[in-house]
Amino acid sequence: MKTLISREEIQKRIESLGKELTEYYKDKDLTVVCLLNGAMIFASDIMRAIELPLQYDTFAASSYVNTSSTGELKIRSNLKLPIENRHVLLIDDILDTGFTMKCIIEEFTRKGALSVKSCVLLNKKIKDKLFSAPDWVGFEIEDEFVVGYGLDYNEEYRNLPFIGVLDQE
Ligand code: IMP
Ligand code: MG
Repeated sequence: MKTLISREEIQKRIESLGKELTEYYKDKDLTVVCLLNGAMIFASDIMRAIELPLQYDTFAASSYVNTSSTGELKIRSNLKLPIENRHVLLIDDILDTGFTMKCIIEEFTRKGALSVKSCVLLNKKIKDKLFSAPDWVGFEIEDEFVVGYGLDYNEEYRNLPFIGVLDQE
């Protein structure tokens, strides 16, 4: 296992993201939404770095392309709080194609949120981005498979306190 981003680098970046988010949301009713399962660790850190009153909720879904090739969400666990008239900040571990994020933003906008923005720990540089504009990014990374800090390979490695690249077996 090769360390790509150390625990210390992650913590430092989260502090500065927290400052930016605190400034941006200071006069807004904020709901932070953690996209399960991968964002759980990042969300708990980033939430504590935002020095504002806020509401917290979780959402779990996967996306697929339906027959008319628009995005559709398969929701595993829905929000518990209403988001009408609230500013929603979606927290995810990694943006790969961005397809899931795009579908979730559309869904939450339909539900009546005043704004829906996204903050991801990692943004992968790939050619076929479907949604390429996360509002806040922790780190830009190359197109390689990473684990740790919430990210899994076959549901393992989520508990690593750093971001690592798996050795090719
Ligand atoms: P997207 O819809 O293609 O952006 O899918 C993003 C999702 O794929 C993430 O939330 C992760 O669950 C998973 N994923 C993408 N790349 C990686 C990776 O390098 N390691 C672990 N999971 C990944
Ligand atoms: Mg995920």
